[in-house]
Amino acid sequence: MDRIVVEGGHRLNGRIAISGAKNSALKLMAAALLTDEKLVLTQMPRLADTRFLAHLLARLGMSVEEGPGAQMQLHAAEIAETYAPYDLVRKMRASFNVLGPLVAREGRAKVSLPGGCAIGARPVDLHLKGLEALGAQIELSEGYVTATAPKGGLIGGEVDLPFASVGATEHIMMAAALARGETVIDNAAREPEIADLADMLTEMGALVEGAGSSTIRIQGAERLHGGTHAVVADRIETATYALAIAAAGGDTMLEGARWEHNKVLWRAMMDAGVTVEPVEGGVRVARNGSHIKGTDIETQPYPGFPTDAQAQFMALMTLAEGTSVIRETIFENRFMHAPELARLGADITVHGNEAVVRGVDRLKGAPVMATDLRASVSLVIAGLAAEGETVVNRVYHLDRGFERLESKLANCGAKIVRETESAD
Ligand code: EPZ
Repeated sequence: MDRIVVEGGHRLNGRIAISGAKNSALKLMAAALLTDEKLVLTQMPRLADTRFLAHLLARLGMSVEEGPGAQMQLHAAEIAETYAPYDLVRKMRASFNVLGPLVAREGRAKVSLPGGCAIGARPVDLHLKGLEALGAQIELSEGYVTATAPKGGLIGGEVDLPFASVGATEHIMMAAALARGETVIDNAAREPEIADLADMLTEMGALVEGAGSSTIRIQGAERLHGGTHAVVADRIETATYALAIAAAGGDTMLEGARWEHNKVLWRAMMDAGVTVEPVEGGVRVARNGSHIKGTDIETQPYPGFPTDAQAQFMALMTLAEGTSVIRETIFENRFMHAPELARLGADITVHGNEAVVRGVDRLKGAPVMATDLRASVSLVIAGLAAEGETVVNRVYHLDRGFERLESKLANCGAKIVRETESAD
């Protein structure tokens, strides 16, 4: 099992190219099930999660090929299978999003429930509520969901989400794109990944309006077609490298980063004393000698502070002057990085969904254990700023969502290597 070894204390200077967003790419790939024509995704990140979903889609009958550069070609001329087994859904929650496209296209599908995960229970009740509003009959049995469309296919409907769930909004949009008539989603999630999916579904022949606002209207099409779509830049990868530069010090340009997708993070970083500014073709982040100031944050659905950048922000705050309070409101168990950061000398007290971080003068490298994707990368950030060597074990979590992390950081001056060991 691989581990990452970081020697701290080196500034990050240069440029880092931001990849396409994992959390958009996974939904765009699932949406390729909606058409019998070829769909080409460009700016595709190469990640364990996209490979994993490609494997499931291939089982369902799709041809999936990685093209030149960051391209992926998906072609589901025919659906061979409408069943997604436990093993392929349990390991990655986004796999559950094949249910809607399959039932929209084939009239029926059986998909395993994803189950909980390390960061929280993460039910799918809102996804199912949405499919029911489109006329699907839902049956839950032995850990599987079977969804059946009425004769003649799904029918547009109205869904008012009690919580602006990202996954549920995307799932309903995909199914609605092949439903008859109009679907309205109220209290829809507003993340940039939703707008990306809306753009692609519109390019495929549905009409999606209002993505990015709380009300989305989808006019379904009888048939969707293929096309070419560029995946939106990853705002969480952007946030991660921005916070790494802030923690390690240096001056780096994040190429392709979208300033407008991380406004609340930029505000918090400026409050913390970091220089961040939009520049032609990306975002510049710099901290040269200035102290980091304790800054409070609370995670919220977009456009609020992203839960997926909370661990990385905490890593920065461990070195701040003063105290910062970090509240997590999206997931019930997303502070697993706190005890690992403490191994490097951080002073963090967790009470329920609130973490109080008292800044320390210095962190010291130590062996640590990655527990989930964003927690893992927060340990790398802390390691970049710590004295001495930090060894991050179980980096398979990192590989799920960060493309060439070590080389992107090493190109800017970080001392970071991957080591492969035979046992965990
Ligand atoms: C997406 O998860 C992302 N994953 C997550 O990123 C991200 O943290 C999350 O959105 C919030 O931004 C993907 O896009 C693949 P939600 P998702 O539905 O869609 C509850 C990462 O690190 N809920 O908005 O699952 C749920 O339990 C990952 O890249 C229900 O109660 O998020 C959670 O508390 C982690 N019932 C809250 O809503 C439902 O049916 C937010 O979940 C659905 C969700």
